[in-house]
Amino acid sequence: MSQPGDFDAVRKDIIAVLKQPKYDDGSAGPVLVRLAWHASGTYCKETDTGGSNGAGMRYEAEGGDPANAGLQHARVFLEPIKEKHSWITYADLWTLAGVVAIQAMGGPEIQWKPGRTDFVDDSLLPPRGRLPDAAQAADHLRHIFYRMGFNDQEIVALSGAHNLGRCHADRSGFEGPWVNSPTRFSNQYYKLLLKLQWKPKKWDGNFQYAAKAPGADDDDEELMMLPTDYALIQDDKFRPWVQKYAEDRDLFFSDFAKVFAKLIELGVYRDETGIARADKMKKVPSEY
Ligand code: HEM
Repeated sequence: MSQPGDFDAVRKDIIAVLKQPKYDDGSAGPVLVRLAWHASGTYCKETDTGGSNGAGMRYEAEGGDPANAGLQHARVFLEPIKEKHSWITYADLWTLAGVVAIQAMGGPEIQWKPGRTDFVDDSLLPPRGRLPDAAQAADHLRHIFYRMGFNDQEIVALSGAHNLGRCHADRSGFEGPWVNSPTRFSNQYYKLLLKLQWKPKKWDGNFQYAAKAPGADDDDEELMMLPTDYALIQDDKFRPWVQKYAEDRDLFFSDFAKVFAKLIELGVYRDETGIARADKMKKVPSEY
């Protein structure tokens, strides 16, 4: 137990939980980043519903959404931290874990503000279907991310999180890592998007792109790109940002820090005490 509000103590325990020798590439970091993103990425600016406030993934309607498959691992990694620092809300813990993981994996420092509260029931959950579908293309990315209030540059910057982690056939139906060092935050994703010869992967699973890493041996794991990743170099407005971020790591780091901070604040409005009451959130209109 720590003093309520001692976020530094929580940050330390998040760092301690990152190393997971038996899990994936040895780190819980990537899946924690995905948890923070999926908690936030349900936001709709038109109805002002969804977002990280409330921690709706604790309920089956959101947590059991196939789009969130695998994120139970992230929530389980964080459970001992919630038990130890019981004063922190899940909504704060999940977003804080994302920013702490990014920095610990060599990424930028990202501004994070506390104050989110947790839903007490499942009456305010966003509907399923708000998270992106990796099988689709640029128009779908715009449809999903404009709904949250992001522009084309921000879509490309956010996608750079695919420098981290991997796809799991049993979670999403896709398979493999995007880069050689999936637990190290970098701009390698953009470089590889532009540099490698991406070909449709020959397998029975979902359509995805595959390429050999530069200098890889025959038994080295292939790298991958989702159709939505590949869309970033096919689209005339996205592609220049891929090129900029491939050439300029510092620009990517600073734009990523801004856009991730914006993502985890979507729909989080605090009162004068600094608390964002989840029970004051709007109900999703029935036509949505
Ligand atoms: C993993 C889709 C955007 C962070 C994945 C996976 C898919 C996916 C299919 C594999 C899940 C699995 O099988 O375990 C997409 C699509 C996006 C998108 C279609 C639309 C642009 C983002 C954004 C972020 C992000 C905005 C964060 C800012 C991650 C991370 C992983 C991941 C870190 C690796 C998770 C792990 O290793 O377990 N994404 N994603 N993604 N995504 Fe995305």
